[in-house]
Amino acid sequence: MRVVDLDRDMSDVIPTGTTRDSEFLFERMTQATLDATLPAPGKRIVDVASGFGQDAIALQTASGADVVGAEPSERMMAWTRLKSGEATTPVPAWVRSWGDALPFADGSFDAAFCKGAIDHFDQPLRAIGEMARVTKPDGRVVLAIANFESLSCRWARWADNVGEALGAEVSRGRRHYDVPADHFTRYELGLMTEQMETHVILEEVIGISMAWGLPVWTRAVPKLPTSVVDPVLKGLDAAARRFPGLADVVILAGRPR
Ligand SMILES: C[S@@+](CC[C@H](N)C(=O)[O-])C[C@H]1O[C@@H](n2cnc3c(N)ncnc32)[C@H](O)[C@@H]1O
Repeated sequence: MRVVDLDRDMSDVIPTGTTRDSEFLFERMTQATLDATLPAPGKRIVDVASGFGQDAIALQTASGADVVGAEPSERMMAWTRLKSGEATTPVPAWVRSWGDALPFADGSFDAAFCKGAIDHFDQPLRAIGEMARVTKPDGRVVLAIANFESLSCRWARWADNVGEALGAEVSRGRRHYDVPADHFTRYELGLMTEQMETHVILEEVIGISMAWGLPVWTRAVPKLPTSVVDPVLKGLDAAARRFPGLADVVILAGRPR
């Protein structure tokens, strides 16, 4: 029997939508991931580890692409099918499947993407190989992954170590730079690139957001007006694009090797 995580969501890593900075990160990550698939009406796109299916639905609705959501969790798939049943517009096709054994023919999609999930896979490299296999030679393979060597992770880890060395009280519980128990892999830019390049010719590496979780910034965000917070978030996002190794999330896109 495989012992894998089938029921979690990204809120284990980054609490969704609770503060403006979390909201910004999620919106940017989602939009940039979907855009990186280069969607267009009639294109066939597969969302690997589609979770509750919200990205597959958004992509199909916004672009007119023909989307398939592949997800192994029975619980998530049941919820997705329930929500799809209420839809008034065409919805994606839902297929129960592991990421490392996709039940699709070679080159049967224009794009394959996997958002915020590859670090939950027990066989990520094989899954990237599968995404490349089912994508057409000139198509797109897209991964969006949380970076555990972001500026924020490095800085907070360093500050905690210094504090601890100076005898400060150590906080209990998981810090945002600690990898959650349901992750199999701790990703940083070097490992993401290495695994992706095994099966994909990299065309784009996009850093998304910077400084998420940095204590001083996290505490300031709810106290500041949106007119101040939003320009700072956009500035940090521009810095993340320039220095993806320090970004909170990295999106990697390319064509099958
Ligand atoms: C954090 S959720 C992300 C879901 C979705 N992509 C999103 O952004 O909301 C991680 C997903 O990975 C799925 N998962 C875990 N192991 C997997 C595997 N080996 N193959 C495919 N999916 C897997 C889980 O069932 C879960 O839906």
